[in-house]
Amino acid sequence: MPLQTASLTVPLLCDLSRNFPQCCATTPAITISICWLPFSLLLSLSMAALLGSVFLLVLQTYAAPPEFIQMWPSAPTLGPGYLGNETVTPSLVPPPGTSKHLPHSIIIGVRKGGTRALLEMLDIHPEVAAAATEVHFFDWDENYSKGLEWYRDLMPYSYPHQITIEKTPGYFTSPSAPARIRAMNSSMKLLLILRDPVERVISDYTQVYFNRLENHKPVHAIEDMLVKNGALNTRYKAIQRSLYEMYMRNWLLHFPLEQIHIVDGDMLIYNPLSELQKVEQFLELPPRIVATNFYFNQTKGFYCIRSDGRERCLHESKGRPHPPVNSTVLGQLRSYFRQHNHNFYQLVGRTFNWG
Ligand SMILES: *[C@@H]1O[C@H](CO)[C@@H](O)[C@H](O)[C@H]1NC(C)=O
Ligand SMILES: *[C@@H]1O[C@H](CO)[C@@H](O)[C@H](O)[C@H]1NC(C)=O
Ligand SMILES: *[C@@H]1O[C@H](CO)[C@@H](O)[C@H](O)[C@H]1NC(C)=O
Ligand SMILES: *[C@@H]1O[C@H](CO)[C@@H](O)[C@H](O)[C@H]1NC(C)=O
Ligand SMILES: *[C@@H]1O[C@H](CO)[C@@H](O)[C@H](O)[C@H]1NC(C)=O
Repeated sequence: MPLQTASLTVPLLCDLSRNFPQCCATTPAITISICWLPFSLLLSLSMAALLGSVFLLVLQTYAAPPEFIQMWPSAPTLGPGYLGNETVTPSLVPPPGTSKHLPHSIIIGVRKGGTRALLEMLDIHPEVAAAATEVHFFDWDENYSKGLEWYRDLMPYSYPHQITIEKTPGYFTSPSAPARIRAMNSSMKLLLILRDPVERVISDYTQVYFNRLENHKPVHAIEDMLVKNGALNTRYKAIQRSLYEMYMRNWLLHFPLEQIHIVDGDMLIYNPLSELQKVEQFLELPPRIVATNFYFNQTKGFYCIRSDGRERCLHESKGRPHPPVNSTVLGQLRSYFRQHNHNFYQLVGRTFNWG
């Protein structure tokens, strides 16, 4: 829909409870929401400030869940804080009765563990509202310093019966994330999806490899990254990030094990339903995800999702085939992780099929 032909008369949603009250006109069609200060506040400002406020619109990305787009009525009902009609270009408001909430559950990692697949699959559940993007609130200082209201504003609109979930794989390996999440909500339910550490290393390498290819940067063979001076290069970041034991110890300083549910990422690939049902139980959600929500895509070699009459597969950058790895190096990698894995099993009171 071309912007200039879509001048609509719609109500604005004004939120006066914030530190900086603002009115928002949101459109999922062009995935931006436009927010500005309400007029009453502007009156107290100088003319220059007024002009500045009007033209310096705060643009922020807002990816609406597809179901919201479908349910938005052409003449939206008035939401709370409704002030009046304004002519804006083009605009809609969030569904009535919805608001943004801090997450009830966070998928904390691990990078390349299958966090996107897990979130997309959980999003099948009618009582789950999933954040569209990785927020990096608790692991990046410049974001964390913006405060919880900034964070909440990045969450999706949800109904009172829904729980909000965000995922940022970087949280798991972040030294500061556990304490910060606990400071927000010590009852937080954490989801951690893990894969065989060796597979994760190779997957990590593969992602970086393709990113570098796309950015026309030189690439290296995986063995050149894994081996340095004839020995395993344990300072290689991809290897470091697979030392689950090390990071888990930090999380357990701040959260009891009962609040951290580990999803078996290797299992999620072959039998998504059983892993999803365990997550439903952990989150105390009624069982709503069923076998027919998944179908196997031969071409992709992975399960895709069928829900609300729509079918969707993960982005093509997910589930890429791994490069073959020199068997000697692979053996070194396996033996390096053996003890760490064993320690991890002891830490979480559970074993995994990690060779
Ligand atoms: C807002 O717009 C609607 C639809 O165009 C109209 O029916 C209503 O009277 C307007 N309300 C105000 C306060 O102007
Ligand atoms: C904290 O998290 C728990 C578990 O998800 C949730 O039940 C509770 O409502 C949350 N508390 C607040 C204040 O958000
Ligand atoms: C968090 O901060 C980083 C670095 O400043 C930025 O690139 C990223 O977009 C921020 N996240 C959000 C959701 O704004
Ligand atoms: C299966 O996967 C391929 C490759 O990703 C994709 O092009 C195709 O649309 C998918 N088919 C279905 C039915 O999901
Ligand atoms: C694997 O690499 C080692 C050196 O690290 C080399 O000696 C060996 O020939 C390689 N094996 C294969 C199958 O390429």
